[in-house]
Amino acid sequence: MLTEAPQAPARRERKTATRVLVEHHEVLRGLMRQLRETPRSQPGRRRALADELFDELWMHERIEESVFYPAMRDITPAIAAAWSEHRQLSDQLAALVRADPRTERFDRELGVMHDALESHAHLDEERQMFPEIERFADEELLVDLGDRLQARLEWLRSSRRIRAVLRLQRALLRRTAR
Ligand SMILES: [Fe+2]
Ligand SMILES: [Fe+2]
Repeated sequence: MLTEAPQAPARRERKTATRVLVEHHEVLRGLMRQLRETPRSQPGRRRALADELFDELWMHERIEESVFYPAMRDITPAIAAAWSEHRQLSDQLAALVRADPRTERFDRELGVMHDALESHAHLDEERQMFPEIERFADEELLVDLGDRLQARLEWLRSSRRIRAVLRLQRALLRRTAR
């Protein structure tokens, strides 16, 4: 008799939480780089890239806030500040999505977004918080958290409901654009 094979867990390389997050920072940086290289004469591409950045940054903040930050709260005091920086990044990203990609304002918002992202991801997380965590947290815990972060990110990316929510959020932002 044919029986359904049990669902195999997704095969993925095991990585520490900090490595998973740094690799996702690279995804965000790549999108930012492409946005900065795309001229005003290609508003459709700029808009599509801004949408992708919106979704990826939203997912990045969710996985950090739901999995990583709570687990690291007792290891470094930097977590509290990081949480509030996420709110600022989200506000700035909203300003970017609202801006018309054919305008100078979009370039200005993009410049502010770039600096805010680097300040948080590079200076605060990669240069300060992550090395501190790697020094004090248990390696096994970091690998377990890495698995959870990867699984959560894959789930968010593949969820149609989440995609629909993000699409709606972007549409609402653009409708309230001044
Ligand atoms: Fe963060
Ligand atoms: Fe991050």
